[in-house]
Order: sequence, then structure tokens, then C-alpha cells
Amino acid sequence: MSNSEKKSYQESLQSLVEELQTSNEELQATNEELMASNEELQSTNEELHAVKEELYTVSAEHHRKLDELKILSDDINTLLKATNMGVIFLDERLNIRRFTPSAMDTFNLLKQDEGRPFAHTTYRFEGLDLLSVVQEVAESQIVATHEMSVYNKDYILRVLPYNTSVADASGVVITVVDVTLLKEAERQRLSQKEICEEGLNKFTYLASHDLQEPLRKIQQSGELLQMDASEVLDDEGKYFLDIMTESASRMRSLIDDLLLYSASANQDLEKSDVELKPLIDAALKDIDASVQESNAKFNISKLPIVRCDAKVFQQVLVNILSNSIKYAREGVSPVIRISSRRSKEATTIRFKDNGIGMQPSENINIFEPFVRLHAKNEYSGSGIGLAVCKTICDKHGWKIRYSSELDKGTEIFIDIPNKDFS
Ligand SMILES: Nc1ncnc2c1ncn2[C@@H]1O[C@H](COP(=O)(O)OP(=O)(O)OP(=O)(O)O)[C@@H](O)[C@H]1O
Ligand SMILES: [Mg+2]
Repeated sequence: MSNSEKKSYQESLQSLVEELQTSNEELQATNEELMASNEELQSTNEELHAVKEELYTVSAEHHRKLDELKILSDDINTLLKATNMGVIFLDERLNIRRFTPSAMDTFNLLKQDEGRPFAHTTYRFEGLDLLSVVQEVAESQIVATHEMSVYNKDYILRVLPYNTSVADASGVVITVVDVTLLKEAERQRLSQKEICEEGLNKFTYLASHDLQEPLRKIQQSGELLQMDASEVLDDEGKYFLDIMTESASRMRSLIDDLLLYSASANQDLEKSDVELKPLIDAALKDIDASVQESNAKFNISKLPIVRCDAKVFQQVLVNILSNSIKYAREGVSPVIRISSRRSKEATTIRFKDNGIGMQPSENINIFEPFVRLHAKNEYSGSGIGLAVCKTICDKHGWKIRYSSELDKGTEIFIDIPNKDFS
């Protein structure tokens, strides 16, 4: 081998060694990279495990929710099957989506009507263009309610907009409830009320015409007997004569009260704007004697001007205030507080006394005629005062109510709609 060949051989060996060194370095770097990748893969693998576990939990939760949803859906299906309310769900294009069995009877629907346009149903409610109502509700999104009678049956029909997040399900819901029994009960109640009113009117006529005269004669004869025959009557005779005259005068006051009650129900109202304070003063003048006798004190707050029949409402005030004086506690002078309180819808006039009070009872309505809670021999009266108050308040469209506590006092409230105040 020549020197030059030797040199070139050495050089190529040298470059081979260098190349091998570079390759070795590269291999080392690659190895490091691979190791790093391996670590990354390991941590990715761990992450994947964690994600997989999370997925398991989410999936289990999803299954649980699905089960709950299924129960809910079963409940709703059962409810829709069981209800005797007719319900029809219409979609956005007013096609029938589903309906309850009761709706099948009321609207003459068949199972195969599901999916058909509601406009194609054959049933028509007399006097009501239901399709137009449905279209209007779908457009205006305002609920519509109609009462109607069909073939001696009474129904309440409601059409409601139905919006859900599921576009296909949104549309309109029609509900129809058979209220025949309720209406019948209402008719019976009204006719009973009419019978009672007619009876009361007949009795009032009888009381004012036919009973007055014989009663007057009994009273006059009694008085004559007391004046002329008291010497010839023995004690027993006098006793019975007293009972007779007392009963006759009691009957007269009952008849007078009944006439008063009937008059309060029949009189027409003449309304004007009335200041309450002067009206209370006028009512107190009517019962001046008992006010003086009882030494009653009145604490009257600023009161509003009310639209009412002044003369008629004065009767209410007289009845309430005279009760507060009559049912005072023994040895305690009556203190009566009159105030008013305005709320959003109505203003309440409140009469609060410090009298004997009463035990409120669900079975006894003190606003009904002839209802009396206290001993008849201790307190005079017929039990008509508050009944007159109630009739007068009813006629004005007002509500009268009370609360009371035995031995503490009584509060009478009159709720007057704010439209009756100027
Ligand atoms: N302020 C009150 N305190 C206690 N009890 C009362 C009060 N107001 C009414 N009552 C009870 O309610 C009953 C009915 O009252 P209402 O004014 O109608 O009849 P009355 O006072 O007995 O008789 P009338 O008013 O016809 O003379 C009374 O008998 C009494 O028992
Ligand atoms: Mg009374």
C-alpha cells in the first residue's frame, strides 16, 4: 500500500469513525426522545384511564337519568290515560300529536287521528268555532277559556299555547272538563237561595200585613187587662198576663227586625262620595243614649271618602257600633277604635272594641239572621243587626268579616275595593 493510499484509507477511516460517533450521538438523542415519548405515553395512558373512569360515572348517571325520565314518562302516560279531563296536544302546524281517552269521547277522535290536522276532525261544538280559537291562541299565545253546554252536558274548554325546547312538541294544548255535576249543584244552590228569598219575601208580606193587626190586638188587650183586671186576677193570672204581653212585644220586635232585614235586601242603592267621619258621627247620634249611658270612648283615625249609599251604610255603622257598646265587659267602659288601612286591591275599615268578645266557630256564622252567641236573657236583640250589615255590604260589593277573642274584644273588618275611593 502506497503512502498516499494509506493516507486516504486513514482519512476515510477517520471520517467513518466520526460518522459513527455522530450516528451514535443521534442514536442517543433519539433514545432520549423515545424515553421521553414513552413517559408521555405513560402519562397519557394514565389520563386515558382517568377519562375512562369518568366516562363510566357519566354513563351511569346518564342511565340513572334515563330511568328517571322513563318513570316520569310512564307516570305522565298513566296520568293522561287515567284522567277524565279531555286533553289534545297539537303541534306547531296544528296536527294532532296525542290525546287522552276522555278527549276521544268528547271530540269523537279515533286512534288513527294522531298525526292528522286538527282542522280535519269532524266534531264541532255548537256555537263555538274551535278551530278559529285554536289558530288565534297559536298566533297570540294568549290562553282562551270558554264555557259551553252540549247535549245537556256542561264543559269548560281551555286552549293554551304550549312551548317546549323541543320544537316538534310545541304548539297548542286543548283541555276540556265536564262540569255538569258542578253546574247542577250550583243551579240547585241558586234555586234553593231563590226559594229562601221567595219564602222570606212571602213571610215579610205576611208579617207586614196579616200579622200586624192580630198582634196589635193582643198587645192592646193585654194592656187593657193589665189596667182593668189586675185587681180581679190572682198572682198566677198576673204572671201569665205578663208573659203574654212580653211575648207579644218580643214578637213585634222580631217582626220589625225581619222587616228591616228584608228591606235591607230589597232597597236600591243611591251612591255618592261620602266622608266617613261625619257619617260615623251621625251613626253615633242615632245611638246617643247608649253611648252616654255606657260612657263609651271613640278613637277615630283619619278616614277616607267612600263611594256608597250614605243612608244605608249609616245602618251598618249603627249596628256595628251598638254591638261594641252592648257587648262591653262588665265594669269596663267601651273603648272603640276605628281606622282604615289601604292595601293593593282594597281598603279595610276596622272597628275594634274591648268588649266580651266571642268564641269564633266554623259552624256558626254571626252574619246570618237570628244567630246570637250570648245569653238571650242578658243581652237584648234579635240577631239581625250583623245580617243587615252583611246584606248591605254584599249589595255594595264589599266583604264584611270579623275576628274576636273571648274576654278581650272583637274586630269587625269591611274590605272595600279601592275603586270605591275617590
Ligand atoms: N262586638 C261584639 N262583641 C261580642 N259579640 C258580638 C259583637 N257583635 C256581635 N256579637 C255576637 O254576634 C251576635 C249577632 O250580632 P247581631 O248584631 O247580628 O245580633 P244582636 O246584637 O244579638 O241583635 P240585634 O243586632 O238584632 O239587636 C250577637 O248576638 C253576639 O252574640
Ligand atoms: Mg246587634
